[in-house]
Amino acid sequence: MQTSLRFCSGKKKMHYSSGSTTILHGQSEVALSEVADHSIDLIFADPPYNIGKSFGSFHDKWPSDKDYAEWCYGWLTTCLRKLKSNGSMYVMTSTQAMPYLDLWLRNHCTILSRIMWHYDSSGVQAKSYYGSMFEPILFCVKDPKNYTFNADAIEVEARTGAVRKLIDYRKEIPTPYKSTKVPGNVWYYPRVRYRMPEYENHPSQKPEALLERIILASSNPNGVILDPFAGTFTTCAVAKRLGRRSIGIEQEREYLKIGLRRLGIASEFNGEKLIAPDKTYTRKNKTRHATSQGALFDE
Ligand SMILES: C[S@@+](CC[C@H](N)C(=O)[O-])C[C@H]1O[C@@H](n2cnc3c(N)ncnc32)[C@H](O)[C@@H]1O
Repeated sequence: MQTSLRFCSGKKKMHYSSGSTTILHGQSEVALSEVADHSIDLIFADPPYNIGKSFGSFHDKWPSDKDYAEWCYGWLTTCLRKLKSNGSMYVMTSTQAMPYLDLWLRNHCTILSRIMWHYDSSGVQAKSYYGSMFEPILFCVKDPKNYTFNADAIEVEARTGAVRKLIDYRKEIPTPYKSTKVPGNVWYYPRVRYRMPEYENHPSQKPEALLERIILASSNPNGVILDPFAGTFTTCAVAKRLGRRSIGIEQEREYLKIGLRRLGIASEFNGEKLIAPDKTYTRKNKTRHATSQGALFDE
């Protein structure tokens, strides 16, 4: 694999690329200037949610909702400029912040779907209100008359409840109803758990299966995908597997290192060996360990 490591002279930002994947290490607000306007087919934006999480040295809390929304409007404006005229953008944020982005986005592009990523319950259960079981995703396009949507690539089984195939007798020759359909806007995918092979050490890693549906539907092979808040670089990893080009931007050095390893760009960083998380875990009542290959042993 041909690997190139380029540094921007006089600037702190750094570029790392290999084959079809590029990592920009730095703040999105700055690094996005490295991306040509009107050059991107698909953007997946999963920013910090303003809920007080820690991402390495970064604390995800703005002084007010308004401050957070204003920050988002800044990078959303830039992202829309980077999109091709037939491009699509998926935007995530917290349930409480999404109304701000929804109201803003509907004035700057077309929101085609409001998706709920629904998952299994969180570890900490709410006792005095209804616990959150989903995260919202907006699917936006620049031009509702001209955008990519590969329905065939993402169809799911259309459950009718019938045991036998339903026949459409209204047709001249009775034919079975189509047994697949485009998924609706509630998507169930389990969150990334420690024991899953894709797990990385990050507080907000998104499942590969979620990105797979988005990338298959809204881009074509060799298309260019941008993730301005790459985290563990899930978007780039899935893009690579599906034969798309990608650019991932991340400001935290720890997560940059995950990306370099996960995407096969580098096996070392400043002399440090980049290794996958050690999946050793302990069971209650018994001390049972598992290796990252899944072999179990008791102590
Ligand atoms: C919600 S996480 C993204 C998770 C990612 N989708 C994944 O699957 O791993 C948001 C990421 O944005 C990064 N981040 C926060 N502010 C940033 C900024 N201004 N520029 C670039 N990255 C930033 C954080 O370090 C964090 O890793």
